Amino acid sequence: MILIYFIFFFLILYYLYSKNYTFWQSLKVPFDKPFFLFGSFYNIAARKEHVFERIRTIYNEFSTPYVGIYIFHQPILLIRSPEILKKVLVKDFDKFTNRNIATNEAADPLAFHTLFIAKDAVWRNLRAKLSPVFTSGKMKLMFPLMQECVDDLHSFLSQHAGEEIEVKMMMKKYSVDIISTCAFGINTFCFRNDNSEILKMATKLVDFKSFVRSISIFSFFFLPRFVDIFRLTFADKSASDYLISVFKNTLQEREKRKIIRHDFIDLLNNLRKSETITDGYKFDDDIKMAAQAIAFFSAGNDTTSITLALTCYELSLNKAIQDRLRQEVTENFHENGSFTYETIQQMKYLDMVISETLRKYPLAPFLTREADVDYTFEETGFTLGKGVSIIVPISGLHYDPQYYPQPDKYDPERFSDDNKKNLTPYTYLPFGEGPRNCIGQRFALLVSKVAMAAIIKDFVFDVTDKTPVPLRFDPGSLFVQNRGGLHLKVTKV
Ligand code: HEM
Repeated sequence: MILIYFIFFFLILYYLYSKNYTFWQSLKVPFDKPFFLFGSFYNIAARKEHVFERIRTIYNEFSTPYVGIYIFHQPILLIRSPEILKKVLVKDFDKFTNRNIATNEAADPLAFHTLFIAKDAVWRNLRAKLSPVFTSGKMKLMFPLMQECVDDLHSFLSQHAGEEIEVKMMMKKYSVDIISTCAFGINTFCFRNDNSEILKMATKLVDFKSFVRSISIFSFFFLPRFVDIFRLTFADKSASDYLISVFKNTLQEREKRKIIRHDFIDLLNNLRKSETITDGYKFDDDIKMAAQAIAFFSAGNDTTSITLALTCYELSLNKAIQDRLRQEVTENFHENGSFTYETIQQMKYLDMVISETLRKYPLAPFLTREADVDYTFEETGFTLGKGVSIIVPISGLHYDPQYYPQPDKYDPERFSDDNKKNLTPYTYLPFGEGPRNCIGQRFALLVSKVAMAAIIKDFVFDVTDKTPVPLRFDPGSLFVQNRGGLHLKVTKV
């Protein structure tokens, strides 16, 4: 009897899915042949391929302006053409304002109020409110806080000079220190305390290693119904509760002792104090402010630390590039006596190096948007229906030899002043593009550059027998990184 039920259930499932899998065919859109139940993402679900590679593979298999894919049962349009991307991301942004991410205010109020997930008017008002927090003037005021964390990173390397070190954890400690001091107003000193509670919570917050958490995060992007049915939360509940209480305590302390640090807490608090009745979005609950700090933590922590670790890795493999970078930062340091907010911006080669790391390893391998209306592509006459989602294949574009010859080669020259102007617009998207791009871009670049300048001036990085060459991305990781550690040898200059 059970077998009959099972077969019946399976047939219904099969019918529903095969019916769905005719969506792109019926619209005459070229499509990636779906695999039963999993669509184009079977290899990801089976943890055979990282999402970075899967998207690049689909991108490479076609030459059309767009490709229809299925993620489980959901039809999604993967857009390959930079001209069309310009329209979706910028020119006609008002028709593609939202990401294709589930929200449920009752089940996950924290996520509902974060910029990455917020939708429509909530997002518009929140983005307008938060944008002044990330201006260069505000970043400059935070620079001294960053400098303290760079000093700890530098001391760590001094203590371990001559040894083999694991750069992913090292850079994670640095980024947790920076974001904790800038977003939560606390000094975590992760280099001095291996058992730092906040370091544990930072790891737990968007932990993709645990099966349940990875399904949870995946559902927000690709199985929105699961989010409602199982009342899933985007961030780990215990980690976010911990961070909310840290945030609230700091806020109370600030008010009581009138401390001013020019960090995100101060800036958010000032925004709250200057609110008027006409403000579209109000920080009328501490949770709404804490949600922003937690979002900065989850969006900025691994992205920055992995970018830095992978830069050290590439510099170890490309010693001429490492030497040239050292020459630039050393000259700059001797000319000015120290690294300042302004001198960091002057270093062109440093900018080229970080840009190339983000080209080769875009931390977000794809962007998502959702059509708010029926939208006709002028180029082909095809109408995309309201509510259908879009994927922007960053990993495909960044490795397309038409735009980046010899894409596997780490070559910062692609971003020299002369070469930069020849790049095809909308093919370099590490921070996304348009009004919904990464709000933390300026902060991330500053944090990355100030660390790189300080360490490359005084230390040399080399590969060892333990360094993974070539790098294989761990399919079980949310970001592009290898499984396990990234070991390099460090010596004093
Ligand atoms: C190397 C580091 C980073 C990379 C590569 C990165 C990349 C991205 C990308 C690709 C997006 C999506 C953009 C789009 O859809 O067009 C994004 C959004 C976002 N990022 Fe970052 N990010 C980084 C660091 C940071 C930091 C340090 C913060 C905060 C302090 C941050 C906060 C955010 C937020 C809040 C959003 C959502 C913006 C919105 O929807 O309006 N990111 N980031």
